[in-house]
Amino acid sequence: MNKRKLVAGNWKMNGRREWVDSLVRGVRQALTEQPYDVDVAFCPPFPYLFDVGAALSGTALKLGAQDCSERTDGAFTGDISATMLRDMACDYVIIGHSERREFHGETNQLIASKMVAAHKAGLTVIVCVGEKDAKMDATTRNAIVKEQIRQSLCDSADAQNTIIAYEPVWAIGSGLTPTNDDIVTMHGLIAGFLPLSVKGARILYGGSVKADNAATILQLPGVDGALVGGASLKKDDFIKIIAGAG
Ligand code: 13P
Repeated sequence: MNKRKLVAGNWKMNGRREWVDSLVRGVRQALTEQPYDVDVAFCPPFPYLFDVGAALSGTALKLGAQDCSERTDGAFTGDISATMLRDMACDYVIIGHSERREFHGETNQLIASKMVAAHKAGLTVIVCVGEKDAKMDATTRNAIVKEQIRQSLCDSADAQNTIIAYEPVWAIGSGLTPTNDDIVTMHGLIAGFLPLSVKGARILYGGSVKADNAATILQLPGVDGALVGGASLKKDDFIKIIAGAG
């Protein structure tokens, strides 16, 4: 089972072509000079997949997308199929991010359908789960995350093609994080709750992972990597986060 840590940068709806040089090639160069025993993925917006993929070509750095359609190719204007993402050399696709759930009304059922499509195309999914409210008591929080996992995992999910990202919604972009104890507890709960076929899958933490807290969070038991938003847009910060996982 591959338990190398994964640090994935989710650019969200940010980016310009010039970033490929300043950010992607910069990270690539830094990791060539100082490699770490960590899987690294860039998840830019769709229009930049080609350029980022070209900049990563010939390296061990991976490309990912931020979403895919649940449908296969056809008359679905504006949608992007998982097959296309694979064709663009993506290895990963993020699905079920809380911003998709909130701004596009995505349900666990839809996310499960997207997972089927992604697995069929040969992609590894990073499926996001997490409670909305920081003040939620532990029982409610645990029940919500369990239900998200139960409903969004499809039958084709296994420990290789599926990665869980625990992203408490209140921690995203806020500069707030759960306590270390709460992260360890939640990751343990998720690991214990995964169905047999998915047992051992990597469980990432996401939500305000920064250069200064990454090493602590990434070395907590049960944390197999990080899904990084804002700090993945800054070369030096992203490199420090990768170093924290190494
Ligand atoms: P931030 O790292 O900006 O909090 O975003 C986390 C996230 O949503 C990654 O998917």
